[in-house]
Amino acid sequence: MRITDFDVYKELLKEKSGLVIAPDQTYMLESRLGPISKKWGYPSIEALTQALQGVPDKALIADIIEVMANHETSFFRDLATFDLFRNSALPYLAKARASQKKLRIWSAAAASGQEPYSIALTLKEQAAQIPNLKPEIIASDISIEVLEQAKLGVYSQFEAQRGMPIHTLIKYFTQDGQLWKIKDDVRKMVEFRDFNLLDDMTPLGSFDVIFCCNVLCDFDDETASDILMRLTQRLAPDGFLFLGSAEAGKGKTADLTAVADQRGVLVPKSSPYLAMANSAAPLATGAVSA
Ligand SMILES: C[S@@+](CC[C@H](N)C(=O)[O-])C[C@H]1O[C@@H](n2cnc3c(N)ncnc32)[C@H](O)[C@@H]1O
Repeated sequence: MRITDFDVYKELLKEKSGLVIAPDQTYMLESRLGPISKKWGYPSIEALTQALQGVPDKALIADIIEVMANHETSFFRDLATFDLFRNSALPYLAKARASQKKLRIWSAAAASGQEPYSIALTLKEQAAQIPNLKPEIIASDISIEVLEQAKLGVYSQFEAQRGMPIHTLIKYFTQDGQLWKIKDDVRKMVEFRDFNLLDDMTPLGSFDVIFCCNVLCDFDDETASDILMRLTQRLAPDGFLFLGSAEAGKGKTADLTAVADQRGVLVPKSSPYLAMANSAAPLATGAVSA
């Protein structure tokens, strides 16, 4: 691939999705763009690049973002995150939201749905702990293709078993040959939307819990900080923001702070939860039992 072609895709991905690619990904870029050129009827990647110089088709741009985004995910991907959600955030919110009755949760880079369904399964299993709360789970991603799978809630044997305790699989999924389909009562707990994290988040409203896991690491520091700042604006004053376990460095923001001994979760600096967590005995943790 010519350097000039690489630069076109680098610019395009950064501008339209925030994703950053490095020169050592040239081979990957080339191999993934090949099928796109073919699909769109271009004889070569150079011809595809040429087509992007004018006013490119939005669907073509979406296809390029689709193949270059990392959609890696699994159920209960980070056990510590789900432990904190279940054992620390939920007990706090059960009390703090008792009169409000609503609990709004956003899975902001939901990929093929394993993360928001893991949230829904945790809420199902903890229903007795939050008897008066009506949860609303919004799950979004930039990629239409992964959202299609997410909406169906159908997973291969490998995807279903990865990260999922077997009793949870049997309780909440139905098997159809090699496929596992999430039961309707869980599927209907999640509302899927296509949403680009670079876009205005204001129309989404305010959330008690935001999961934005394993996506900030794909952006440069400037983009990650901007997204983080706007996520913070969507977070309730005593809400919880979960990032991927390897993203702590991307999570620096003036208004949020980490909680001692609770890696991966950020809360607003003025949150009453912070004082509570700092003065409390070590919080309960355990294996995910959703
Ligand atoms: C590695 S997956 C993470 C999935 C899940 N949060 C997890 O931790 O397992 C990252 C997801 O972020 C999505 N993504 C990348 N850029 C995005 C953007 N600008 N807006 C919304 N989603 C984006 C990708 O399509 C991909 O599905």
